[in-house]
Amino acid sequence: MAKADQLVADIEQKIRTGQLGPGDRLAPVREFAVEHGLAPNTAAAVYKALSSRGLVQGEGRRGTFVANKPAVRVHIDEPIPNNLVNLAHGNPDPTLLPDLTTALASVPSEPLLYGREQIVPELADLFRSDFAIDEIDASELAVVAGALDGIERVLAAHLRPGDSVGIEDPGYSSVTELVTAMGFRPMPITIDGQGPDPDSLREAIDRGISAIVITPRAQNPIGASISEQRAQALRAVFAEHPHVLVIEDDHAGPVSGAPHQSTIPVDGPNWAVVRSVAKSLGPDLRVSALVGDSTTMGRVRGRQAVGTGWVSHILQHTVVAMLTARHHRSLIDLAVKTYDSRRLAFIGRLSDNGIKVEATSGLNVWIPVADEAAVVAGMERRGFAIRSGVRYRLSTPPGVRVTIASTEEQILVQVADALIEILQPTSHRRNV
Ligand SMILES: Cc1ncc(COP(=O)(O)O)c(C=O)c1O
Repeated sequence: MAKADQLVADIEQKIRTGQLGPGDRLAPVREFAVEHGLAPNTAAAVYKALSSRGLVQGEGRRGTFVANKPAVRVHIDEPIPNNLVNLAHGNPDPTLLPDLTTALASVPSEPLLYGREQIVPELADLFRSDFAIDEIDASELAVVAGALDGIERVLAAHLRPGDSVGIEDPGYSSVTELVTAMGFRPMPITIDGQGPDPDSLREAIDRGISAIVITPRAQNPIGASISEQRAQALRAVFAEHPHVLVIEDDHAGPVSGAPHQSTIPVDGPNWAVVRSVAKSLGPDLRVSALVGDSTTMGRVRGRQAVGTGWVSHILQHTVVAMLTARHHRSLIDLAVKTYDSRRLAFIGRLSDNGIKVEATSGLNVWIPVADEAAVVAGMERRGFAIRSGVRYRLSTPPGVRVTIASTEEQILVQVADALIEILQPTSHRRNV
């Protein structure tokens, strides 16, 4: 192995085994070259190889740092102790997901062999009619293994290492980590309760982003949903910059509790929408519908065909059974209603006590705080596990994320009261 390759492998091993952790600084390139008897160009090539795989990030004069979640280790969140109410997980409420046993009973029992179509035809029809309701063109369709798989495939179809990708800030940490692991540069785009800020988007486009990942509803972590007016403003920006690839991550789909307002301009040349069943039918199904322009979709389907080939037909049939079950619609309606009342109970209590948050959709609520670690620790002392916002933000000020999905309203009111006590220790609470 060439010396440079060996050094790349050595650093990678240090990252894999934890000798080098997220945020650790690597020696400056020049020092590294001297230390290992390398020409400066060779040392720079070692760092470049690590950065093009998203293992390290160069931050100009500050130096080169190990990425937050370098993709050479599998990260599993620390388990939440049983004595805490778990408001940290980001999962849908399991009692609002359809019964798996019934659905599995309708999976064909004969062996499913090679040589079948990529998409089970009934599933293609169901997905197409679902997109038609939102007037999203689904003539080009793929089935992928989850929203993130769809995002990865679309980015890979267009971008090269070193390209920049617009990321909502705060936004879903796995999207940022995926973008980084693919060797792209995440570029923050400010958002509020109505979605991405058009001025911030323009600025990111001026700074050269090639693509953007947008969450139309159930935005994680802040619970934003894109309003009609905001969608119109964003479409206008994209129409002026048709080279920017727009990816909509509709990860919660029908249980978002808000309509899907499209940010994709009519006849836009570079776009994709991924709609996952993870939150409405269950995260473990790993099934999502992906639609987009014909160039993107041709590349994605063709690449899928020479790689994994297809998403298991066993899973696709299970989803068909769930989507066509007699109680499907009423279960979705119940989920929407339940998430709405839980969210409203929580943010209503905060708002009555002067803490205004903007969440209108989805499973999570974001509360700006000055000291994330102190608030998380204070909540833990009061019996509640919540998430520090640090993993979700790039340039946004600190906050904490509370998943409201699986907790009864009266407990959520207690969660709000605990937060109020921590955030406003001297004020007199109004008990409404
Ligand atoms: C914004 C966002 N996108 C994607 C996902 C993951 O979706 P999937 O499981 O379909 O990959 C999540 C999961 O919570 C999410 O919050």
